[in-house]
Amino acid sequence: MKINKIKVTSTNVIIAILAFASVVMTSCKSDPNSAGFEFMPDMYRSPSYETYLENAVYGGKDSMSARLPVAGTIPRGFESFPLGVSEEDYKLADSLKSPIAYSEEMMTYGEDRYTKMCSHCHGENGDADGLVVTNGGFPPPPSYISGRSGRGGMMNELSSGEIVHTITYGYKNMGPHASQISLSDRWAIAMYVQKLSGKEFGEVKGEDESTETPAEQESIEENETIVESSASEASVKMEGNLENEH
Ligand code: HEC
Repeated sequence: MKINKIKVTSTNVIIAILAFASVVMTSCKSDPNSAGFEFMPDMYRSPSYETYLENAVYGGKDSMSARLPVAGTIPRGFESFPLGVSEEDYKLADSLKSPIAYSEEMMTYGEDRYTKMCSHCHGENGDADGLVVTNGGFPPPPSYISGRSGRGGMMNELSSGEIVHTITYGYKNMGPHASQISLSDRWAIAMYVQKLSGKEFGEVKGEDESTETPAEQESIEENETIVESSASEASVKMEGNLENEH
């Protein structure tokens, strides 16, 4: 090959350095905001619009590329809670059937979610001694074991539907957690909260159906209201979640 015949003399080296420098130097510009000479602009200048920059297509006052979703848009796989925030709906929540059948695995899952989402206030054992309370000075919630619910009755008598309603919408000093915790996870947490309040599973209102065989459950579900059938959808999703988890 011809290139092999070029001798490595000092003149050749100097020419090579100058040639290289001339290429490198031409890309330097005094403007600090300039990228200088761009050899292949398509490689680093995408013609697509940047998310938070102006977009001529929309024009006007709000011309940002990132648009708000259409009103009423819900995320894919979103499970909506069938009841509203009102006290009447809270009472109805009492009769919601838990879509979750008891299993050791589900209880462990609920415990994990509880530890991550609730224990910093309610305490690991539900005694209202989480760090946010003991160190942060946040008003202590009532103990799950011996406290009284602000709505009357004992905390350890709360049904899983009532607990899920509270997690969904919050209550007084406790904020709503619906945006952080999926509906099926809320049911799993409720199961664990009831365990913390000293209930054996099956002893608590709303859970007794779980002793039925799948065939019996199916025939019941056929006659049930929308509220309960959407809860059973959540159960299917829950199983999906668990598979992903493990
Ligand atoms: C920021 C602290 C905080 C977090 C996090 C929190 N809670 Fe609470 N929770 C409270 C407080 C405070 C109350 C008492 C509300 C009141 O009466 O003002 C309460 C009350 C409750 C009640 C009783 C409501 C009633 O009827 O009186 C339940 C049940 C409950 N929380 C469950 C949960 C669960 C389950 C989680 C986790 C998903 C959770 N909380 C996360 C602070 C918290």
